[in-house]
Amino acid sequence: MERTIRIGALISGGGTNLQAIIDACEAGRIDGRVVFVGSDKAGVKGLERARKHGIPSFVVDYGQIIRRYRQDPQCLEAPEDFDLEDCLARQSLFSGDTDPEKVKAFFVTRAVAEAALLNNIEPYAIDLLVLAGFMRNLTPYFIDRFNTDPDSPRIMNIHPALLPSFPGVDGYGDTYRYGCKVGGCTVHFIDYGEDSGPIIGQRAFAIEEGDDLDRVKEKGLEQEWQLYPECIQLFARGRLRTVKLTHKLDDGRVYRRTVVKILEEG
Ligand code: GRF
Repeated sequence: MERTIRIGALISGGGTNLQAIIDACEAGRIDGRVVFVGSDKAGVKGLERARKHGIPSFVVDYGQIIRRYRQDPQCLEAPEDFDLEDCLARQSLFSGDTDPEKVKAFFVTRAVAEAALLNNIEPYAIDLLVLAGFMRNLTPYFIDRFNTDPDSPRIMNIHPALLPSFPGVDGYGDTYRYGCKVGGCTVHFIDYGEDSGPIIGQRAFAIEEGDDLDRVKEKGLEQEWQLYPECIQLFARGRLRTVKLTHKLDDGRVYRRTVVKILEEG
């Protein structure tokens, strides 16, 4: 019997990508099954989708954790194994002139939330974690504890733009406002940066004269629902390898990047 993978999903909202992934698992287009759905917010539609499919779920309420810290930073205890300096050294989401207290607040509240995520996730012994419209940056605290083998990343994300263009929270909006004639979506492994990890797959679509932003989002989502399950299936079949590429440029500089190689079937 072929092995099927155990998939965990994190969401923040409507969960249409989650739905596409669940449907693909049920239809046998992914050799795997979604074993839990976690959300950073209670009451979102994606949780209802999980319930309908009998998939267990949990909520780690990021908003509440952040509000508690704002009211009284002392009342929130960072996990014992949290190391602020280590996170700062690995992840540069903030510019150098950002108020250090703000940066500290970010990493402490995230570590508290991420420790809760890890606690919830651990019993499910998953092979792959998919971020499906999960609108929170994961910090090195979480990433290093989940991705224990740096050569075998196992956290995937879908981003609503053709990366490396338009990282951030509003990929389709940024694509549309820029006046692009082509939009797209990208599935990638996550690293410490914002939407900067090794790219697994991309889909593009034409932005026609007369398309408004809603239409662009609609076209994009249709592509996402196909692309994400396909990329997850490549993972399930053991067809994704990360390799380190080095390119020497004409001026002597060396460009290094970890990229994804898609292996032949079998
Ligand atoms: C999608 O466009 C996804 O790319 C982005 O957030 C949106 C979430 O959609 N990260 P849904 O929750 O899967 O419907």
